[in-house]
Amino acid sequence: VNNEVRQLLTLHEKAAKLYHHILLNTPAGQPALKYLKKRGMTDELINQFNLGYAPDQRILKPFFEQQKIEYQLMRKSGLFSEDQEGKLRDRFVDRVIYPIKNGQGQVIAFSGRLLDTSKTELPKYLNSPETPIFNKRRTLFNLDIAKKTARKTGNLYLFEGFMDVISAFGAGVTNGIASMGTSFTEEQVSIIGRTTNQLDICYDGDEPGQNAIDRAIGLVNDHRPPQLKIKIVQLPAGIDPDEYIQKHGAEHFNNYLSSQEETTTDFYLRFLRNGKNLNNQNELMAYLNQVLKVVAYVRSPLEEDMYLQKLASEFDLDRQTLKIQLKQVQQELG
Ligand code: UTP
Ligand code: MN
Ligand code: MN
Ligand code: MN
Ligand code: MN
Repeated sequence: VNNEVRQLLTLHEKAAKLYHHILLNTPAGQPALKYLKKRGMTDELINQFNLGYAPDQRILKPFFEQQKIEYQLMRKSGLFSEDQEGKLRDRFVDRVIYPIKNGQGQVIAFSGRLLDTSKTELPKYLNSPETPIFNKRRTLFNLDIAKKTARKTGNLYLFEGFMDVISAFGAGVTNGIASMGTSFTEEQVSIIGRTTNQLDICYDGDEPGQNAIDRAIGLVNDHRPPQLKIKIVQLPAGIDPDEYIQKHGAEHFNNYLSSQEETTTDFYLRFLRNGKNLNNQNELMAYLNQVLKVVAYVRSPLEEDMYLQKLASEFDLDRQTLKIQLKQVQQELG
């Protein structure tokens, strides 16, 4: 490990400690602490994830300058924004701080959340920029902990947000990860493939969440590490994992995860209905054609038959006819 990397890691560790201290032990941190408590964050979770608060006044710069940290190192850390004259200012201001760690548990970046998003145009979450130690495309929140749990459970849960991962952790689901706000990447797929044999995607139960599931399945299928299987857990409409846990509690959440798990094919049976009126014959035909393209990739004949049976009984169709149509679709796909 070169010297610069080591120094940048040290800066992040110092910053994380400072933000955590401000949250827990200073008057400036009280509104943020209250906010987190209101969101169901226990002291245990706040400590486990080393959550913090970056106050209104800019404090990181004087803190580092007092310790004689070099300007160039501070500049490269991503912890500051830079004006045209090269003057640095704390990047994170009046935000709850979520430290982001690499696979070895070292802090490499931060995400900061506004306490109140109602009267501002500022982004809800602000992340560190790319730096020599932070590559967003390769980073998964909580991977350092989740991979240990995954050795026992055999799976990882992919959530959308940091709060989902943290609340799930509080509910005993410690094998949750999240991508960095940027969409899920090929690099993350390959890291997951090296960590586990099963990925359960549990995104928000809204339209962006469903579209993101569709995209994530496509990405895994395109770059599929040999052993990796995907399952989907679709949350109720309009709710995310964190909200589900706050509303229904840990036990219901665990039950939900294990009972609502579905195959990617079942996901597409639902997803492809969106925006279609299946009472209209043309739209039903379009739906069946799209669905058969998905069923065409099912490898097990028994499973294939189950999907055909489902479609036949729901739409009152002849299963044999569906089967013939499926063979045609498979031929067209090659
Ligand atoms: P969501 O809007 O679902 O946020 O975005 P959330 O995780 O439920 O956050 P809370 O509960 O309101 O605190 C999902 C993820 O997208 C990224 C973040 O990583 C967030 O966790 N995101 C969202 C950003 O990077 N910037 C934003 O402005 C918003
Ligand atoms: Mn602590
Ligand atoms: Mn969302
Ligand atoms: Mn959400
Ligand atoms: Mn949320």
